Amino acid sequence: MLLQQLYLNNEKTMSDLRIEDGKIVEIAQSIAPREGETVERFGGKLALPPFIESHVHLDACLTVGDPAFNLSGTLFEGISLWSRRKEKLTKQDVRERVLRAAQMLCRNGVQYVRTHVDVTDPKLTAMEALLELRQELRDRIEIQIVAFPQEGILSYPNGKQLMTDAVAMGADAVGAIPHFEFTREYSVESLNFAVALAEKYGRLVDVHCDEIDDEASRGLETLAARAYESGLKSRVTASHTTAMHSYNNAYVVRLMRLLTMSEINFVSNPLVNTHLQGRMDTYPKRRGVTRVKELTEAGLNVSFGHDDIRDPWYPMGTGSMRDVVFLGLHVCQMMGYEEIQNSYRFICDNAARTLCLPEGSYGLRPGNEANLVILDAKDWYDALSLNAPVLRSIRKGAVIARTTPARYETL
Ligand code: FE2
Repeated sequence: MLLQQLYLNNEKTMSDLRIEDGKIVEIAQSIAPREGETVERFGGKLALPPFIESHVHLDACLTVGDPAFNLSGTLFEGISLWSRRKEKLTKQDVRERVLRAAQMLCRNGVQYVRTHVDVTDPKLTAMEALLELRQELRDRIEIQIVAFPQEGILSYPNGKQLMTDAVAMGADAVGAIPHFEFTREYSVESLNFAVALAEKYGRLVDVHCDEIDDEASRGLETLAARAYESGLKSRVTASHTTAMHSYNNAYVVRLMRLLTMSEINFVSNPLVNTHLQGRMDTYPKRRGVTRVKELTEAGLNVSFGHDDIRDPWYPMGTGSMRDVVFLGLHVCQMMGYEEIQNSYRFICDNAARTLCLPEGSYGLRPGNEANLVILDAKDWYDALSLNAPVLRSIRKGAVIARTTPARYETL
């Protein structure tokens, strides 16, 4: 298959790209078609490696309103509603919802997903379902599973054992939720436990870290120190870190040294945290999103996640990573021209680093798997601002999703 006239990787000149046996075999300014070869000419459209959803909760997706809508809009009401919904979980229920969400993600050009799966459930129902779906969906979406203790490791009955069981069953990463543990001591112990478990089983770490407006929530420094000392470093991710929004600057300057040494990744979820955070404020209300601009400028790796798709924490969402980046740039005040043009990296290259995708497996380069998306725009600036549809999502050389752009008439 020969794809012609594409702006690859948001570059300013067009290239052609040849795919054979599911791999990219050639990229050049102009490639002549071979006899009988399928040729598609795009006339100047943007092609990127596939979008990566680096933080979502597929086990809870599409449950909004059941058993009730979250009226306070807080994380804590969300956790309490989910705790009630969790009692009704069956594998079939999880399967049906995840398959619907997978369709949504697929048509939005997402081919890699890191999902947190709640393991504070004595039956580990969602974990079992997601492990099966990881296998079943692998030709369309590569799924990484985080064993996520939604109600705490030390603060939930048998929490350590449930975490260990989930990891032994095949979770790819170990989670934690230090800001939800009963005490500061539990919070520190939960992080020590999570890092030790990851070391023992050779897994990644992704912690819901300080998702609270409390400037005294300091799980991040503990996580970064353990990442540094254990040598796990870039295999560790701190998700949310919204308390960092409220830390005093003197503390952040000191913290930055450790963060840089630790080489950990950050995932920010701007859609959900602008909605959940600042709920105890009157006015002015804090935005509640971590310091994406400062972390990026310091050379730390930051990716963006959707976090929730129509669930007890967030009532909206279509699985579009464009919406995440669009709001993220606004709320983080990253609207300079170059910042906008480069922002696809939050859901592409940076997210690939967060997921620790193996070298050579991701990116538009000869020799790599032919995984890419083609957007109805000439560059990322236009794609983002005009909400351009994903014309094609191609995985291992096969078109797995196709969109025909809407035609508008003004009468
Ligand atoms: Fe989350």
